[in-house]
Amino acid sequence: MNILVIGGNGFIGSHLVDILLINGHAVRVFDSVYERYRKPLSNVDYRISTLENIPELYEAMLGIDIIFHLASTSVPSTSNIDTVSDINKNLLPTLNILNLSVKLGIERIVYFSSGGAVYGIPVTTPINENHPIQPISSYGIIKATIENYLFLYHRLYNTKPLIIRPSNPFGPRQGHYMAQGVISTFLRKIKSREHITVFGDGNATKDYIYINDLIKQCYKLSFSDEVGVYNLGSGNGISINQIIKQISKTTGITPEVIYSDVKNFDVNHFVLDITKVSGILGTYPATSLEKGISETWNWINSIS
Ligand SMILES: NC(=O)c1ccc[n+]([C@@H]2O[C@H](COP(=O)([O-])OP(=O)(O)OC[C@H]3O[C@@H](n4cnc5c(N)ncnc54)[C@H](O)[C@@H]3O)[C@@H](O)[C@H]2O)c1
Repeated sequence: MNILVIGGNGFIGSHLVDILLINGHAVRVFDSVYERYRKPLSNVDYRISTLENIPELYEAMLGIDIIFHLASTSVPSTSNIDTVSDINKNLLPTLNILNLSVKLGIERIVYFSSGGAVYGIPVTTPINENHPIQPISSYGIIKATIENYLFLYHRLYNTKPLIIRPSNPFGPRQGHYMAQGVISTFLRKIKSREHITVFGDGNATKDYIYINDLIKQCYKLSFSDEVGVYNLGSGNGISINQIIKQISKTTGITPEVIYSDVKNFDVNHFVLDITKVSGILGTYPATSLEKGISETWNWINSIS
């Protein structure tokens, strides 16, 4: 199939590109930059542009069967600073993608929402897909709004949206310049012998998923007939202190830890209920935290 990956040069997108290529698809990537950690791949059709450039976006969408949309300029920590920009740079360009899709007859759009941000402070845990949507960041509001538009277009034009709500993915090629990804950030700090900062007392538990596990499930769902929202996570809560303990074991380095105030845009305890996806794909042997951290550490050492 002909696949367009918007945001395909980022952390998650680059792994998605890999699995698409392995499975024999023709891959086109639309992104404002090339990959940070790899040279361009010879068998990918890169379109380097921004979503604001509608003619180039349209060109990139020609002949495409499935669109994966992973582009986002904001993360929870930055989104509340400029909410207008969040609408302009993330919501409006996505509406352009949807309108062009209708025009071009592209029915399948796989959208990367967020399992950590759309639900807000959990009312029940683990959090299933029917949990109330009460975001505490503009990032979460934009994600939830885009989900609603995807469903609106589904009703109006019979499109087939698949919405992925990932927990906290981690693994090789995760940058830390956008302040997302605690495991990658800690490992890089340790590598450069800096202290690490923990917001709160370190007992906040979150759901972490190794990138390969996320991508495999996303791939299977995308090429199924499933339409709707899916939590993709490990289904387990792991505390920051547990992560630090495992990181110390893996790296052989005990970092200096500075505990700081809790951030008001962050959901501190969340574990995703993954019953829905497991019911469709079955259970799978998830990568252990130990192995995932070890793979990420090996990668960090290989690039620096
Ligand atoms: N990484 C996480 O922890 C996490 C968790 C939940 C959801 N998500 C969501 O998954 C998606 C992918 O996340 P990621 O970690 O790979 O992010 P990333 O920042 O590594 O990749 C996003 C890519 O999109 C591109 N991009 C952004 N705005 C663009 C624009 N206007 N035009 C063209 N390209 C643009 C960037 O250049 C980048 O290469 C995002 O939508 C993110 O919100 C990520």
